[in-house]
Amino acid sequence: MQRLIGKTAIVTGAGQGIGEAIARRFSAEGSNVVIAELNPESGQKAANTIHESTKSPTLFVKTDVTSKTSIQAMYDQTLAMFGQVDVLVNNAGIAVFREPMECTADDWKNCMAVDLEGAWNCCQAVLPGMLNQARGAIINIISNHAFSVMKGTFPYPVAKHGLLGLTRSLALEYADKGIAVNAISPGYTETPIAEWYFNLSDDPQKARAEVEAKQPVGRLCQPSEVAAVAALLASDEVRFMIGENIVIDGGVSIRMYE
Ligand SMILES: NC(=O)c1ccc[n+]([C@@H]2O[C@H](COP(=O)([O-])OP(=O)(O)OC[C@H]3O[C@@H](n4cnc5c(N)ncnc54)[C@H](O)[C@@H]3O)[C@@H](O)[C@H]2O)c1
Repeated sequence: MQRLIGKTAIVTGAGQGIGEAIARRFSAEGSNVVIAELNPESGQKAANTIHESTKSPTLFVKTDVTSKTSIQAMYDQTLAMFGQVDVLVNNAGIAVFREPMECTADDWKNCMAVDLEGAWNCCQAVLPGMLNQARGAIINIISNHAFSVMKGTFPYPVAKHGLLGLTRSLALEYADKGIAVNAISPGYTETPIAEWYFNLSDDPQKARAEVEAKQPVGRLCQPSEVAAVAALLASDEVRFMIGENIVIDGGVSIRMYE
């Protein structure tokens, strides 16, 4: 499908994992894509490989979502190359998982800075242009940690609950201005962040098998499954959907205790 022809999308943290899959899918759907990624190696590599396979214009800009200056520079480069921004995907995120009393001031600050404020910073950069053109879609990649909690993962769920609040606040505020703000909450997804978490264990293979066994579908989510939903939200097909949080967690959140 080519639902995003003529659109320009910024995807933060798109050097790998879910963000890269979203950038790849958008590009395949005809969108110009900006990879706004902190890591210059993975960011440039993702931009190159995506462009090679889809031929759609792809731009990598080294971006730190915790810095408004960095975001503004990325936004200016985007406008210079593509002239407009139609879609923002706030995907960049870090997993800070601690027992609450072991969470340092820096742990808290870093987690909030990337997972919550980073998204708000990027929204602030693109919203004036979207309001001006009376058109836009913002998609926040949250997590099932936005409505459920797990011991030992503090303060990640605090930031992700906040991101759900940000999604709903902005969605309502701009619903009558042509801007659709929605969210996607993936469950356990097969990405480097998940791999990193398994590798914290003495037996990563066993840790993975245990997580897979806890999923009603018996496997992890694939980044492409999140990207498919993001493409729908970025398209003009469901503009009546406002402030939703689409959960893609293989059934984990609908299960009663067993
Ligand atoms: N993998 C999962 O199981 C899972 C589940 C639910 C939600 N999520 C969320 O999905 C998003 C993507 O997760 P992932 O698994 O692909 O993670 P990942 O660690 O594989 O990729 C995250 C990317 O964000 C980039 N990044 C980090 N800090 C940044 C910053 N300050 N500015 C710009 N880029 C930055 C990283 O360099 C990396 O390329 C995150 O928000 C994460 O919380 C992931």
